[in-house]
Amino acid sequence: MWPNRDCNCGGFIASWLVKLLLSKGYKVHGTVRDPSSEKNAHLRKMDKATENLQLFKADLLDYNAIEAAILGCEGVFHVASPVILSGISNPEVELIKPALLGTRNKLKACSKTNIKRVVVVSSNAAIAINPDWPHGTIMDERCWSDEDFCRESEKWYCLSKKMAEREAFKLAQENGLDVVTLCPSLVFGPLLQSNVNYSSLLLIKFLKGSPELIETSRSGSFVDVRDVADALLLVYETPNASGRYICSLNQTQYTDLIDMLKNMYPSFKYPNNIPDKNEANDLSSEKLKKIGWKCRTLKETIDDSVKYYQEVGLLSMDDEVFGFLSMYINAIYAMN
Ligand SMILES: NC(=O)c1ccc[n+]([C@@H]2O[C@H](COP(=O)([O-])OP(=O)(O)OC[C@H]3O[C@@H](n4cnc5c(N)ncnc54)[C@H](OP(=O)(O)O)[C@@H]3O)[C@@H](O)[C@H]2O)c1
Repeated sequence: MWPNRDCNCGGFIASWLVKLLLSKGYKVHGTVRDPSSEKNAHLRKMDKATENLQLFKADLLDYNAIEAAILGCEGVFHVASPVILSGISNPEVELIKPALLGTRNKLKACSKTNIKRVVVVSSNAAIAINPDWPHGTIMDERCWSDEDFCRESEKWYCLSKKMAEREAFKLAQENGLDVVTLCPSLVFGPLLQSNVNYSSLLLIKFLKGSPELIETSRSGSFVDVRDVADALLLVYETPNASGRYICSLNQTQYTDLIDMLKNMYPSFKYPNNIPDKNEANDLSSEKLKKIGWKCRTLKETIDDSVKYYQEVGLLSMDDEVFGFLSMYINAIYAMN
């Protein structure tokens, strides 16, 4: 029998990770805020979930619940963190506190229960937001977002990810924990969960003519959710993995993305006024590739994403209804 792994598991990335872990024969302790909620029903339907997935009720802010879920596990994936990029009225409460305290609670519980390795999901948001990084150079794992700049430019999500990742390494050092972090760029791909997460919503809106994706993510760096799940397991299972790992395809110019999409789906609406040249620095995933990470092409990711959106009717939804859905999703993110 495989030893248990703990993972916060209802969201976009976490659901694919749980599916992968179960398929490999791991026993999984998954934490969700409400195990009885319909939005977590997909987890119980996964192959081998009946035997190998146990769901625990735990909020990131509730230390005791987190410790109870981790007890008996050998490894931990810390995935959950609020993903809100707009409409933020109180960044401290909505983003910073849950990201930081969630990381502290997780790592404290890991230390207390002698967890062998903790994999923390960070983000390129913790890497790329730094005006001092020279233009045209390639960013690697040595690069960190600048906290003062994030505050000045009100990039609260980026600040929360940077602070949480730094905190994870600080606690690792203080407590002798083996912590590895993964920093994915913007994640697309088919969904397993029933609600639409933030990054998927950006792509859906883009395919419906909204420029929000370009405004939110100037760098045009993307990665497939299934490749992120593979990378998380890879860094967990590779004994000599250490430190940070960027997880991203090479940068795509938005003009090229639009050309590719127009070839694939000529009838979709696309935003006008696409910036000619993307000036953001590229990200290097060489460190991750060196330990064996392989990834899909952007074309494959977009194709599979669009097939999924079409299958569940997200693209054919009337603009007004879709606008309402987006507002509703943004409001839910902001409330949580
Ligand atoms: N998607 C991307 O493009 C992307 C890129 C880089 C990094 N990431 C990182 O990947 C991780 C997962 O993101 P995702 O894209 O999968 O988004 P997601 O589907 O929105 O997942 C976020 C998860 O965090 C949980 N969460 C938030 N606050 C919580 C709290 N106080 N207590 C317990 N759970 C809480 C949410 O639970 P509820 O369902 O109960 O709200 C949700 O399951 C995050 O750390 C994010 O920063 C995402």
